[in-house]
Amino acid sequence: MKTLLHIIATPRGNLSNTLKVSAAVVKSFQEQHPDGRVDAIDLFGENMPPMTLKATNGKYLLLSGKELDDQTLPAWKPILAQIQRFLAAEYVLISSPMWNFGMPYVLKHYFDAIVQPRYLFHYTEKGPEGLATGKKVVVVTSRGGDYSEAPGKSMDQLEPSLRVMLGFIGIPDPTFINAQPMLASGPDAAQKKIDQAIATARRLIF
Ligand SMILES: Cc1cc2nc3c(=O)[nH]c(=O)nc-3n(C[C@H](O)[C@H](O)[C@H](O)COP(=O)(O)O)c2cc1C
Repeated sequence: MKTLLHIIATPRGNLSNTLKVSAAVVKSFQEQHPDGRVDAIDLFGENMPPMTLKATNGKYLLLSGKELDDQTLPAWKPILAQIQRFLAAEYVLISSPMWNFGMPYVLKHYFDAIVQPRYLFHYTEKGPEGLATGKKVVVVTSRGGDYSEAPGKSMDQLEPSLRVMLGFIGIPDPTFINAQPMLASGPDAAQKKIDQAIATARRLIF
């Protein structure tokens, strides 16, 4: 049984532009994997482990090749649980609006919690190496403006930063579906772009 982990970084539920497109991605997955499982993480509803002093101390222990200790383990239990959840999924769908040119803070928090040495990356003689390999990752974003071409393209901090993050953990080829503009050209243009993005999502192969 294959698992699709759906990471939801919008608080807007039924109002969400992004989730309208993501629903089509989920539908494509379910059609192709009728016995598949969808594990949804609502980042605005679920508390992610805070990266406190004890949590960051644990990270530095692992970075220096040591083990987590009694001081750091309690803070790390929820971090390890989220890491296992991420690693257990063969497929990952990230649903993210653009907020102030980048990702909403909850999504950054999620990555700050799970991108950990020994689990999602490690260092080799050739430098850092991602450990979350072999996953198919789809990222659905929506934006109020249109950042697909210059001069707006250089202001897009969402797709480039997610590509760096995912590349670092071993996912070099995520598929992006960007619905844009959702605001700048009015509701009819927005609906057209959502429909186009849904059509792309329905053609995805899982
Ligand atoms: C806090 C906040 C910040 C935003 N910042 C941007 C931005 O920098 N650029 C942009 O084009 N749209 C911005 N928007 C608009 C959203 O990206 C756009 O409406 C998107 O479709 C919302 O997705 P959702 O409906 O799935 O939440 C912002 C919206 C919010 C609520």
